Amino acid sequence: MCGIVGYIGNKNVAEVLINGLRRLEYRGYDSVGIAALLGNELIIQKQKGKVADLNKKLNYEKFNGCTVGIGHTRWATHGEPNDINAHPHCDCNGDIALVHNGIIENYSAIKKVLIEHGHTIQSETDTEVLVHLIEYYHQTMSLVDAVQKTLTRVEGTYGIVVISKKEPDKMVAARNGSPLILGIGDGEMIVASDASAIVEHTRKVMYVSDGEIVEITKDTVRTFDLRKHELEKQTDKIDWDIAYIEKQGFPHFMLKEIFEQPETIQNAFRGRIVLDEGKTRLDGLRLTEDELNSIKRIIFIACGTSWHAGLIGEYLIEEYARIPVEVEYASEFRYCSPILEKGDLVIVISQSGETADTLAAMREAKARGVRVLGITNVVGSTIARESDGGVYIHAGPEIGVASTKAFTSQITVLILLTFYLARRRFMTADAGREFLQELIQVPALVQSILGKNDEIKAIATLYQHHRNFLYLGRGIQFPVALEGALKLKEISYIHAEGYPAAEMKHGPIALIDENMPVVFIAIKDEVYQKVISNMQEVKARKGKIIAIATEGDEEIQKFADHVFYVPATIKIASPLLTVIPLQLLAYHIAVLRGCNVDQPRNLAKSVTVE
Ligand code: G6P
Repeated sequence: MCGIVGYIGNKNVAEVLINGLRRLEYRGYDSVGIAALLGNELIIQKQKGKVADLNKKLNYEKFNGCTVGIGHTRWATHGEPNDINAHPHCDCNGDIALVHNGIIENYSAIKKVLIEHGHTIQSETDTEVLVHLIEYYHQTMSLVDAVQKTLTRVEGTYGIVVISKKEPDKMVAARNGSPLILGIGDGEMIVASDASAIVEHTRKVMYVSDGEIVEITKDTVRTFDLRKHELEKQTDKIDWDIAYIEKQGFPHFMLKEIFEQPETIQNAFRGRIVLDEGKTRLDGLRLTEDELNSIKRIIFIACGTSWHAGLIGEYLIEEYARIPVEVEYASEFRYCSPILEKGDLVIVISQSGETADTLAAMREAKARGVRVLGITNVVGSTIARESDGGVYIHAGPEIGVASTKAFTSQITVLILLTFYLARRRFMTADAGREFLQELIQVPALVQSILGKNDEIKAIATLYQHHRNFLYLGRGIQFPVALEGALKLKEISYIHAEGYPAAEMKHGPIALIDENMPVVFIAIKDEVYQKVISNMQEVKARKGKIIAIATEGDEEIQKFADHVFYVPATIKIASPLLTVIPLQLLAYHIAVLRGCNVDQPRNLAKSVTVE
């Protein structure tokens, strides 16, 4: 949450910062601001609202000639979104400016001392104490030393970038728990919360790690630990295409990302299927044969949509690899006295690789001596770097706050993992070959579903004004129902619940009347007849039924008010198809209701606070 960016170089600083903030806006969007140095002047413009609002009002002329600056887009934690609480924050004299992503946990105690020493704190944020502490130390020492001294006094998480009038040729950045990447250009440097703000300037990057402070000029970078020991750092190259972070003619990133799924699903399995042998290869797992054979239990840990993917993983692995699986909410894991034993394998699932709860749960599991793998999208993210091994889903940057393509890519990787484990246990090469042949067809099947986007739009038009929705599925389709409901509530603010279809009788059935649309996932599988019975229960109470059914199933039309057909496929791959119409339904309803689909209220793409 919160996006930060800093630039030093010869380009128009205000433009670079605003463009960078646009890319990072998915991280938070309730207030925004930039600060830059022009000779001996520190210029700041900040306000409540979005990047576009600031851009409209920004006095670009005032920033002409600046060569160093910082910017911030906020997701409020301490203090409501308003002009004063917006970042950058300044010291008492207006000499130093700072942007921060994270939470300073001991800010109240520091604030008290600062006020006693005569500092004037203007905002209600936890952040502002940082810049006043830096002010205090910077009276007698360099900016980088002042930042280092400050950070030894704070508890909590931070990604920060600081500039000072006294040292106008540099910026200082530091990280603990909030992501930070430095882009190294030719005579310019750009530091940001993620690579999307960097790639249009340079592909050469350096990942800043927890406990590191970086002193940056336009041509040099020096990295220190918190005791001010200089560190040797490696650089990396980002290889994804900039097209991923453009809308490319789509009205919203979410729709673009839904339509990318044939390609992203393929990217998730590309190079990982050995068809002849009916097996998959996942080299990044870094598990020996002995370790693989001694797995007694798998524990998936995740949040939000990634948690739903974990539930699908549970159905897959338990059925095909016969390994017991548990799925934990990351935010609960540490507080439920987890019992971890020899033979347990923890797998954390996170699109961003930065979710604070997931990261904390992962560290807890590691501290208990268990092997931890990560399924992540963002290359070089904290989870990717701190896990013992793992698999990248290769979905490319996901900008829409509501996750779509990352979900189907996570499922694809979980399918590959299922084969990887099952083929070592009960699955024959022939069965493996047959299943994998089907899996390879999935991108084309997804494409055919996307071709019927208008059918979903028509259903969305009919139901856009309803206040409640129920989503029901059974077996492996139950997590898909949860995901469908989550998509709808996230972006359209309609209350929606996902339930196991038969569980409806134990409560939600009381809600059903002619005003309750019920979305059933009712494909032809072993629970089909039972789901049809549940549908009849809804019908008898005059509920409106939208069914996701298997092509060729005419029978279902007797029970459902609307039927959307998906092609038949193997059960393992079926969630990859059934979730697509649910993503589209949520999307169209949200658009029809005039909601901001890509930036739903109160949400953030990457939740880096606990
Ligand atoms: C936020 C996002 C969700 C996402 C969840 C977990 O709530 O809005 O879309 O599913 O975080 O994020 P992760 O990056 O760990 O998958």
